Amino acid sequence: MKKYFRILALVSLLVPMALQAQKTEKVINVIPYPQSVEIGKGTFKGAGANFNCDLEIDSRSAALIRQLADKITFVSGRTNSFATPVGLRRSLDTKKAKGFFFLNDSSLGAEEYSIEITPKNCVVKASAYNGFLYAIQTLKQLTDPAIFSDRINPNQKFLFPCVSIKDKPRFAYRGMHLDCARHFFSVEEVKKYLDIMAVYKLNQFHWHLTEDQGWRIEIKKYPKLTEVGAFRNGTMVGKDFNSNDGVRYGGYYTQEQLKEVVAYAASLGITVIPEIDLPGHMLGALAAYPELGCTGGPYEVWTRWGISDQVLCPGKEAMFTFLEDVFTELMEIFPSEYIHIGGDECPKTEWEKCPDCQARIKALGIKADDKHTAEQYLQSYVTARVQKFLNDHGRKIIGWDEILEGELAPGATVMSWRGVKGGVQASALGFDVIMTPNTYCYFDYYQSEDKEKEPLAIGGNLPIEKVYGYEPFDGLDASQQKHILGVQANLWTEYIATPEYLEYMLLPRMAALSEIQWCKSSDKNFDRFASSMKAESFKIYDILGYNYRKF
Ligand code: ACM
Ligand code: ZN
Repeated sequence: MKKYFRILALVSLLVPMALQAQKTEKVINVIPYPQSVEIGKGTFKGAGANFNCDLEIDSRSAALIRQLADKITFVSGRTNSFATPVGLRRSLDTKKAKGFFFLNDSSLGAEEYSIEITPKNCVVKASAYNGFLYAIQTLKQLTDPAIFSDRINPNQKFLFPCVSIKDKPRFAYRGMHLDCARHFFSVEEVKKYLDIMAVYKLNQFHWHLTEDQGWRIEIKKYPKLTEVGAFRNGTMVGKDFNSNDGVRYGGYYTQEQLKEVVAYAASLGITVIPEIDLPGHMLGALAAYPELGCTGGPYEVWTRWGISDQVLCPGKEAMFTFLEDVFTELMEIFPSEYIHIGGDECPKTEWEKCPDCQARIKALGIKADDKHTAEQYLQSYVTARVQKFLNDHGRKIIGWDEILEGELAPGATVMSWRGVKGGVQASALGFDVIMTPNTYCYFDYYQSEDKEKEPLAIGGNLPIEKVYGYEPFDGLDASQQKHILGVQANLWTEYIATPEYLEYMLLPRMAALSEIQWCKSSDKNFDRFASSMKAESFKIYDILGYNYRKF
């Protein structure tokens, strides 16, 4: 009995000590949190330190490293000389060498990196551009947020904590979407959006470019898409679906501008995936070319939000020629492996009445069954034709989860948005999946229950804690998990008309998203995340001029 009490006493002593140790465990303020972190003692002074860059590093990565050297030089006023000595790796004695050392390590994956910081030096290893990029993003969050600033500060030492980091992402696809169709955002605004994505190591920008409310890309063969389809005669006011502010609204990107965004994103390690949403959400195109619809119009670029019954007509061969022409120009602009073809929210009411659609159904021998209507199978036919065209040109399709309704050809990737259901179903059928469930990843939803205090939003409630808590493998067995390429959040802009409001809806929820995308679920910790947000990320937003919601 005595022994029992002694053990009990020891346990009651040790448990609080362990809890205390957990609480005071040192962490670094880096988001997304790296996979392996060992914190040492002391700091390394970045201001004035030499930058040394292995000759085996490619010129793009070297330019990136030089930018970091130039930044430290500029802000601190202390010169950081940049060198590329021959045979650096063989002669480097990391115990003695002083300064920054960037080394090529071909044993690391393309998005992997390591950082070793001692009071003498900072040694970074990666094998490819994105690895160096992510190492640099981590370094920037390890030191003073002034690293993001353009303000000269001669007192700035740029101290880096001594730490050993080994890091790589959990998911290959780490996306953020932006709807530039409901509201139009300038090239500069899109670049600013990409800049903050890069801070959190996101690597896919899903750009929603066509809608009922506006067509936003220049297509040379179809000039009316932008002359007519890019502008609407007003916009509904607030949630009054019968209203119109009477202010003509619109805009589009020229092909040169789109290429500029693609190149800019690439410099940030981000691939741009364009979306042409079809066969629904097409009033922008129909207003310009009414012959592409079932009734022949007339159509108008929509001035209200919602789902229009007026959609493309798959009974007309000219509609497919149109799509192939559009995708041909699109592929010249966007080199991405994936092209998003939409597929969501396509009402079938016009197809049910349209003689051309019904003739197509008959000619194809499509029959309704107990699972789907003939018109749903007709949408599968549209998806399959566009998919084949893009596959023949070396591209793969992504579609919203409605593309599962009917039949889906192998090789398509499904974006699960109506909750996780589509992702569960598609992965069980062997399709690759990107999880973007509205329940966790719709950043057009409110950020608080207290909606009166928030700007007008589409609805829902998605506070940052809920975003952070999303686990993409929930409900999936091992064979399904292999098909989850990654996670993305979507930012639809019906009610978001200004860059300030856009940033407010994006930040800081995108930071929470980045930990779902990058971190192992066992490394996630909301308290650590929240305290790092306050210590580092909010300062970065302030310096870079982003509007954000505090929590
Ligand atoms: C969607 O939110 N309609 C994909
Ligand atoms: Zn039709």
